[in-house]
Amino acid sequence: MLRKHIYLIGFMGAGKTTIGKQLAQKFNLPFVDVDQFVEEREGISIADIFEREGEASFRLRETKSLQQLSDCSPSIISTGGGIVERQENIDEMKHHGQVIYLSASFATLYERVADDTTRPLTSAGKSTLHERFQMREAYYENAADLVVDTEGRSISETCDFIV
Ligand code: S3P
Repeated sequence: MLRKHIYLIGFMGAGKTTIGKQLAQKFNLPFVDVDQFVEEREGISIADIFEREGEASFRLRETKSLQQLSDCSPSIISTGGGIVERQENIDEMKHHGQVIYLSASFATLYERVADDTTRPLTSAGKSTLHERFQMREAYYENAADLVVDTEGRSISETCDFIV
């Protein structure tokens, strides 16, 4: 029986939402997605927040949503790829649960998200995205209680490993 949340972290395209939903079934816990919660709470899409107000505004909203979700009963919480860019988010997650980093190579991740227009950061181009990835890797690793290499593992193998 889990008494705290499980937070899934990792770059865009790591499979946080897909794996989170399966884990939620296995643990018989609610599944929540921070990005989706931001959109519902604010009544605006993430793409529109970035376009109208910029990334900094999104980060503030993301932090507020994370805090709100962290105060709920134990859940599997899928986060956005940039959650680790603010130390207070890392502190929040570590205080309220276990943090699992779903890792994959940049090449794999980029292939999955390159054409996705719902993710505003992908429009910046491959090398800019790669820089973000490199910058974040250390944050993901330091924040994680468990690092799971998803390369060469199916979704269900990844879930079994985590369980
Ligand atoms: C972002 C990742 C997205 C979303 C937003 C910003 C990022 O979530 O939060 O577009 O900064 O990496 P996913 O990781 O679920 O795609």
